[in-house]
Amino acid sequence: MAPAVLDSVAGLRGAVAAWRADGLTVALVPTMGALHDGHMALVRAARAHGGRTVVSLFVNPAQFAPNEDFALYPRNPAEDLAKLAGAGVEAAFMPPVDAIYPPGFATTVHVDGVTAGLESVARPHFFDGVATVVTKLLLQCLPDVALFGEKDYQQLATVRRLAADLDIPCRIEAVPTAREADGLALSSRNVYLSAEERRVAPRLFEVLGWTAAALAQGAKSSYAVANGTAALRAAGFTRIDYLAVCDAETLAPVERVAVPARVLAAAWLGKTRLIDNVPVSPAD
Ligand code: PAJ
Repeated sequence: MAPAVLDSVAGLRGAVAAWRADGLTVALVPTMGALHDGHMALVRAARAHGGRTVVSLFVNPAQFAPNEDFALYPRNPAEDLAKLAGAGVEAAFMPPVDAIYPPGFATTVHVDGVTAGLESVARPHFFDGVATVVTKLLLQCLPDVALFGEKDYQQLATVRRLAADLDIPCRIEAVPTAREADGLALSSRNVYLSAEERRVAPRLFEVLGWTAAALAQGAKSSYAVANGTAALRAAGFTRIDYLAVCDAETLAPVERVAVPARVLAAAWLGKTRLIDNVPVSPAD
């Protein structure tokens, strides 16, 4: 059955209230639409909770810088709704921009700490935009659980932080990164890769894996990162924004892995910027 399309906060709250009255739990999957199999992994994890699932599809202007592609961001609501129908999703929340940012809107949610460095260097206002819209979506829906992808690891850490700090009564669930068979993380940007770039792209995940393995065996971060950076250059990445080893929770840089850590990278193939990350745990 096709999902109910909700385009107002009141409509969303009404649907959620009706489900709650029936004793059902609610899972929320926030997205910007243009759904691919990575998004659908979140939807499947949401459906596994057994209650009702809301997928929000909202291209959030607040997280795009003026030089970024807000107007060009892919939008295909008909295809998205067909995918959600196939997955058994009950509701799609598709608000117009002024339902989320009405005239006079003046509030920004800013998260410190986990938002420093990494993605923020290239996109300084990105996490304020994400934190503000995610806070709103969580408060509008008040789901039992909201699901986010590990693919965007710094975003996931930001959302965990804001939900804890603002006492939003909702569990944040992380979903592992969905990948192509050759390891490339699924992303709407992968379509921009030329055939040659697409051949090189999975090397990002491969190099992250080597780097994590070296760290687990006791290599210092600076050494593992230097090797990994050289390997990315040799593979054909034209620019490397960062390759970093961070505490898995605080995202503070770590030199020697003594806590659960994460290796994160952003690198360019021509005009396409790819991001990915993998876990690293201390060797036994
Ligand atoms: P969007 O890029 O549409 O991604 C929506 C969700 O899908 C995010 O939680 C993201 O981490 C997850 N996702 C994307 N690719 C994935 C993959 N290959 N495997 C697993 N999960 C994947 O991220 C956003 O939208 C926005 O910033 C949003 C949180 C909706 C706020 O506007």
